Amino acid sequence: MANVVVVGAQWGDEGKGKIVDWLSERADVIARFQGGHNAGHTLVVDGTVYKLHALPSGVVRGGKLSVIGNGVVLDPWHLVKEIAGIREQGVTITPETLMIAENTPLILPFHGELDRAREGQNSVAKIGTTGRGIGPCYEDKVGRRVIRVADLADNATLELRVDRALVHHNALRAGLGLEPVDRDDLLSQLREIAPQILPFAAPVWKVLNEKRKAGKRILFEGAQGALLDIDFGTYPFVTSSNVIAGQAATGTGMGPGAINYVLGIVKAYTTRVGEGPFPTELLDEDGQRLGERGHEFGTTTGRKRRCGWFDACLVRQTCATSGVDGISLTKLDVLDGFETLKICVGYELDGERMDYLPTAADQQARCTPIYEEMPGWSESTEGARSWADLPAEAIKYVRRVEELIECPVALLSTSPEREDTILVRDPFAD
Ligand code: IMP
Repeated sequence: MANVVVVGAQWGDEGKGKIVDWLSERADVIARFQGGHNAGHTLVVDGTVYKLHALPSGVVRGGKLSVIGNGVVLDPWHLVKEIAGIREQGVTITPETLMIAENTPLILPFHGELDRAREGQNSVAKIGTTGRGIGPCYEDKVGRRVIRVADLADNATLELRVDRALVHHNALRAGLGLEPVDRDDLLSQLREIAPQILPFAAPVWKVLNEKRKAGKRILFEGAQGALLDIDFGTYPFVTSSNVIAGQAATGTGMGPGAINYVLGIVKAYTTRVGEGPFPTELLDEDGQRLGERGHEFGTTTGRKRRCGWFDACLVRQTCATSGVDGISLTKLDVLDGFETLKICVGYELDGERMDYLPTAADQQARCTPIYEEMPGWSESTEGARSWADLPAEAIKYVRRVEELIECPVALLSTSPEREDTILVRDPFAD
């Protein structure tokens, strides 16, 4: 059976929610493997809108197992609230339908405070984070002082873990002018939330490996986008996890052989939230138009997204680092009505042509995009369900994208509605 990983191939917000929902109908298990509630996935199922941040998209469909893997960082208070909200919408969530890896790190209130304190300093340290404590929690994970789901089950262990974390955090907070953490209050908050989290705790690595042996289909649901990857993104303006497809294995406890197909989600233009390099950013009317037509406001923070032309050079790069087998191209309809479209095919750096974005920040800053121009189309592509519904120029644009990124289109999404999708290849097909 084929298992599929879905990853964003740009800076996030590529429209993963719809595709993941579409694929989750065909899957038995849906697993998150990185990130946390910095993500925002909007699903429209039978006319009902669900906004998910920490929960895997599979929860809204009956008969599926949803999994939060160890590669995720989890805010337990947020999760309990999100579960309550989704239950109010009529969705059933039980320990049989949702499992959380016992080794998942917990985001605690002081992680969010630290994140926001650093961002609020308005200094060179600013990243433009979602302020949800994602970075500080991952720091604690690699610093070997994080509190994990399993620690909630034993009071003595929990106290030890909290003390270990506070040695570090109280020193750090003093430097930032923050009050020390109230240890007893934190412990009582953790003891209070524990019974609401622990019923979902499970050895996820074992469950998933058993599911795989039983021939079940697993969908690995990525969050953010490959250009926000901690190693391969536009560092330091990135998120704190590995976002690329390889993380699906380490973030759940499966071998790399468990991944049969990698689907990259690619928007027909480019957007980015937060600080950092963006070679094809448009600060003119065209950028404004992309933002308005594409409703480019963050699901999690409501921030306006920066918009620009499609950067084939960067997507070729992310398709390589994630081993993308096929892409789902989204929001093509946002380009309707542009007289001319531009695609970035490479960069010029100090008189030389580059076919990738260099790593060094000073070189990135000196890179100017090399554009190829294509004629636009005046017809609407919104809601197209077959190639025959698309104007010839739109098909040419899609074909050129495929050529430039060296990866075929598997799915073409032409509106937020599930049915408005052109299927070229089913990622789950063996
Ligand atoms: P953090 O993940 O909150 O630490 O934020 C780090 C960077 O990743 C910032 O530029 C955020 O705007 C960006 N980011 C985090 N999550 C998302 C997402 O789901 N979509 C788009 N950008 C994101």
